[in-house]
Amino acid sequence: MEIDSVRQREAAHFIPVVNRYPVALVEGHGSRVRDADGKEYLDLMAGWAVCNIGHCHPQLVEAIRDQAGRLMQTTNIFYTLPQIELIERIAGLSNGALPHSFLVNSGTEAIDGAVKLAHRATGRAKFVSTENSFHGRSLGALRLIGQAKHRHPYAALLPEGCVVPFDDLDAARAAVDDQTAAFVIEPVQGEGGVNVPAGDYLAGLSEICRAKGALLICDEVQTGVGRTGTLLGYQHEDVTPDIITLGKGLGGGFPVAAFACTPDVAKTVSISDHGTTFGGNPLASAAANAVLRVVIEEKLSERATELGAKLQERLRAFGDEHPGTVSDVRGRGLLVGMELADADLAGGLASRALEAGVLVNVTAGTVVRFFPALTIPKHELWEGVDKVLGLIS
Ligand SMILES: Cc1ncc(COP(=O)(O)O)c(C=O)c1O
Repeated sequence: MEIDSVRQREAAHFIPVVNRYPVALVEGHGSRVRDADGKEYLDLMAGWAVCNIGHCHPQLVEAIRDQAGRLMQTTNIFYTLPQIELIERIAGLSNGALPHSFLVNSGTEAIDGAVKLAHRATGRAKFVSTENSFHGRSLGALRLIGQAKHRHPYAALLPEGCVVPFDDLDAARAAVDDQTAAFVIEPVQGEGGVNVPAGDYLAGLSEICRAKGALLICDEVQTGVGRTGTLLGYQHEDVTPDIITLGKGLGGGFPVAAFACTPDVAKTVSISDHGTTFGGNPLASAAANAVLRVVIEEKLSERATELGAKLQERLRAFGDEHPGTVSDVRGRGLLVGMELADADLAGGLASRALEAGVLVNVTAGTVVRFFPALTIPKHELWEGVDKVLGLIS
């Protein structure tokens, strides 16, 4: 396929806010995708932490096909059984600690819902978040975001934020006051560079929030649904947040997201406080039900723990064998970051990997982020990783 003609067609009609690679993808199965010319790639980014059960998992495809032939959409003023099954399954992810949820279409909408819920529950309007955090692009999410490049163009539309360093309990203690509705935190920062906090950070935040009557919101859009080795990212600690958000991996590629909360929070809202046309429609719910069934039946969070540990080991060994290339390896489960020693090593790496037949992401300038499907066969993981490493040494 002539990529220049694709570029021209796109340039004529697209609003140019995305920088694309010169590849048009047409097909994906498991952890392999194919472009329009038939070239195959190993996918180490799973549609940006979305295809946790791999591309086009047969159970997901079948559930969507089946539900599409029955009922795709009603309005939320009617009950639908797929949606009820899904909110039951979401409650199960937290072992019932967060039994109430509401379904939306994207991670940023889930964040908006969580912000509104925290405001209703506390009557407060101040939110504290962390430097380098990413919570989405809606105005509700941009008020939290810890990355100036996303916030700056829309600063005039946003209330002043309160952003503190990540993994710093003293800074959190100084910022959370009796005006604070909630502290919003990614259990592992994804876009910010795969930043993993100390083992007691979330519990510390929970205590700080409780002392001031504020809530703890865990943004699980990237860390949820088994990605970090537990069903939810906060479960690495003995803590229960007041609200969580879910997205990405929940639908395995079908757009569906959610926010979930404790009974104490849920009882503070009333009819009409929130709503959506598409959120949790039968088709989206059927997709998410299939994904959660596979994640649990195939014990994919356990698999993420096992494979993630081996991946970190492999990357560390590479760093030892090639001094001066790798400055850090970190992560949880199959959300792993390899920080390169300088920006020159990282520059153009994703493009070169693409030429070598691997989809891989570089975030925060120098961090090669590995977040493949939790189902990726081991030999495909090592084949892809070795190709990427071969470009660094
Ligand atoms: C932690 C986190 N929260 C929220 C979002 C926003 O999700 P969406 O792009 O579906 O709106 C993202 C997306 O990368 C994310 O990583």
